Amino acid sequence: MANSSRAPGRSRRLRTALVVSAAVGLLATAGAVVLPGSASAASTLGASAAERGRYFGTAVAVSRLNDSAYTTILNREFNQVTAENEMKIDALQPNQGQFNYGNGDRLVQHARSQGMLVRGHTLAWHAQQPGWMQNMSGTTLRNAMLNHVTQVATHYRGQIEWWDVVNEAFADGSSGARRDSNLQRTGNDWIEAAFRAARQADPNADLCYNDYNIDNWNDAKTQAVYRMVQDFKNRGVPIDCVGLQSHFTGGSNYPSNYRTTLSSFAALGVDVHITELDIRNAPSDAYRNVVNDCIAVARCKGITVWGIRDSDSWRSSESPLLFNSSGQKKPAYDAVLTALNNGTTPPTGNPTTPPPTGNPTTPPPSSGCTATVTPGQVWGDRYNTSVTVSGASTWSVVVAITAPQKISSTWSGSPTWDSSGNVMTMRSNGSGNTFGFTTMMNGNSSARPQIRSCTAG
Ligand code: XIL
Repeated sequence: MANSSRAPGRSRRLRTALVVSAAVGLLATAGAVVLPGSASAASTLGASAAERGRYFGTAVAVSRLNDSAYTTILNREFNQVTAENEMKIDALQPNQGQFNYGNGDRLVQHARSQGMLVRGHTLAWHAQQPGWMQNMSGTTLRNAMLNHVTQVATHYRGQIEWWDVVNEAFADGSSGARRDSNLQRTGNDWIEAAFRAARQADPNADLCYNDYNIDNWNDAKTQAVYRMVQDFKNRGVPIDCVGLQSHFTGGSNYPSNYRTTLSSFAALGVDVHITELDIRNAPSDAYRNVVNDCIAVARCKGITVWGIRDSDSWRSSESPLLFNSSGQKKPAYDAVLTALNNGTTPPTGNPTTPPPTGNPTTPPPSSGCTATVTPGQVWGDRYNTSVTVSGASTWSVVVAITAPQKISSTWSGSPTWDSSGNVMTMRSNGSGNTFGFTTMMNGNSSARPQIRSCTAG
């Protein structure tokens, strides 16, 4: 998720190498299925988004990780997670100077074990402050806020793809003003101070401003956030992305100019993310429109829904999510998956040449199973590969990549890596016999992955 707005030194390759070696591959998710003789049509949200160069994520309540019905859907469908509450200020620093990372760390561990990307939410916010912070003001509060940003971003350094550095700092309505809060009263520069502290603490995380009611391009609040981001870019304040929460209250609240909003922010040189999507009664058309708009804007990096089942939702009485309370897919789920699978605009450049001809692999040594490579979609900077295993239902397949190419995302398996980051061992994880991965070319467009072995069991 590197981007061209990075400060010098925050290169895409550096970041890709860092993420791959620190974690177990990005974007692992289940269910990519390659149909013979046709373009691949993925069967899960995450796999389909990955084929579009994007993620599809969800808010996670850490306490629900004990609910196997919940984690089954989570692990099958999603390749990105945001802590619903566990990385907020009151959760992480309940008493001043006493940090409690237990639940946040649990989520990061789970995400790692599944190859999911993590969005950190949120470093500075007027809400869900611990009591000690609510009672503070002035320089004392400013310093406490900056210390929180520094401590937390340092703790999670290297494990967070994007931080919501500041959340909800603008007022609703027509004023276009900042929201009044104890943080705002420390001085108008509190937002940029938070971004600078976050950049210093974790130079490799992308730093986002996140808000709601900034979906309609004509709204004063949208325009005010736009001007702030424009000002930050002009003055070199480190900002990489804008998050649109997109809590919609009904089909009509999806604004017809949503795509304009996304592309207008993107034109400032920041990525855009749809960070907390839920829509009252989950109308299929509004969900479909949101997906189509994100796919149409190259810098829209992905979509996060704010919970899995309606019963998990903070607005559960509105049934706004993609799965019903029994964990079954709702019509909006099918609309989203179809829109993702139909999406044709690649994130950068156009689909280019077919993969180089020639045998993509040497015949792999077989030890109770056989791994067969199917080349997938190719973009200007990356390509997908599927591997189908036959002869065993549990297996591990060793795949070697030629440097400087790097695997940037995987799905439908549990990957581990050697120290070079160029040899991946993919183990079956119960999501079938076909796994897949995306490889960044990094300047070498001809090399293709080699299967080194397939081992049953
Ligand atoms: C919500 C959570 O979903 C609830 O569990 C909690 O009680 C309140 O916060 N905007 C945000 C999220 O940025 O952090 C909020 O999450 C929803 C609105």
